[in-house]
Amino acid sequence: MGYTMGLNLLLLVAMVATNILSLYHLSSTLQSKPPLPPPVPDHLLHQLTTIRATINHLTRLHPPPSSTPKQPSTIPSDLLLYTHISTIASACHNYPDLLHKYMNYTPLKSCPLDSDVAESLMLRGCHPLPRRRCFVKTVSKIPNSLPVSPFGGLQDNAVLWNVYKCKSFGCLSPFLGFDMKREKDQLMGYKTDLDLPIQQLLQVAKSHGVVLRLGLDIGGGTGTFAAHMKLHNVTIVTTTMNLGAPYNEAVALRGLVPLHVPLQQRLPVFDGVLDLVRCGHAVNRWIPVAAMEFLLFDVDRVLRGGGFLWLDHFFSKAADLEKVFTPLIGKLGYKKVKWAVGNKMDSSGVKNGEVYLTALLQKPVSK
Ligand SMILES: *[C@@H]1O[C@H](CO)[C@@H](O)[C@H](O)[C@H]1NC(C)=O
Repeated sequence: MGYTMGLNLLLLVAMVATNILSLYHLSSTLQSKPPLPPPVPDHLLHQLTTIRATINHLTRLHPPPSSTPKQPSTIPSDLLLYTHISTIASACHNYPDLLHKYMNYTPLKSCPLDSDVAESLMLRGCHPLPRRRCFVKTVSKIPNSLPVSPFGGLQDNAVLWNVYKCKSFGCLSPFLGFDMKREKDQLMGYKTDLDLPIQQLLQVAKSHGVVLRLGLDIGGGTGTFAAHMKLHNVTIVTTTMNLGAPYNEAVALRGLVPLHVPLQQRLPVFDGVLDLVRCGHAVNRWIPVAAMEFLLFDVDRVLRGGGFLWLDHFFSKAADLEKVFTPLIGKLGYKKVKWAVGNKMDSSGVKNGEVYLTALLQKPVSK
């Protein structure tokens, strides 16, 4: 018992130390010497020092006005570039108000209903979010059966609707991916060359000797691509955010894997483990070009040699596709298995002179 208490005390001390350090770094006005952490074991001290060094390092990249003159920079240029466009967890400290709001809860009690605050932070690059010690509210009715098919209906009472304007799946626009009857036909038909129906994808893979086991659908909405592939015994995990609707819940209700990660985050899979990565509508010209380059190279990292990158209806201005995106995609050095360009015919597409690109690209086996 004494041992457990000692351990609890130790953890408490460590927690307090971390919080003190966080507070210190959040208030960049504090220039005096940091509060000395109470005695903690060496490995914890080491961790804290590492966190502190990282934050100090990054703070130096965006120095506060009062800080000492900058030393000659030895920071790798890619780190500089990357911290300007994207996530490193300490991006959290750029949004102290949101972060304080998020962390303002009562430990060991119910969490506030604030999944929207969490997502706001994530979308601003604060990811991974700090952990909390509160109980997230869940629905009171538990599903009494597994989904028979990933295209079965979605049950309204399986979702907490508090943070959404809609209070049922039926209220959401059918174009968002929550209408399962409609989703069953998605990715199946061939109307123009921009389409790559599932059957064709499987055939192309087969004819190229590519075995599809595991893939990732980036910005995959309610997981319809994963749903179709599941029927072919291929596992696809779907990254999706809950922008205005319960996308993550829907993916899960379909018996698929939702990954709640923003577009700018390093993909949470190891190098070379995927056979296929699909980028749907979420990946488009609105992503800054530099961020897009990091995204593509991260896709390259997770793809195995011989694996496929499928850009599905990527849209951009016609001129940019030629001048910017085609050369950018070309940097990967992938083989073009399919490359189809067509005009984007909806009103905003016509107004902005946009085109779609659907490309299936194969990563070379060795470079
Ligand atoms: C998927 O796997 C199941 C069980 O192993 C098998 O019965 C089924 O035929 C497979 N389906 C396809 C399309 O390969």
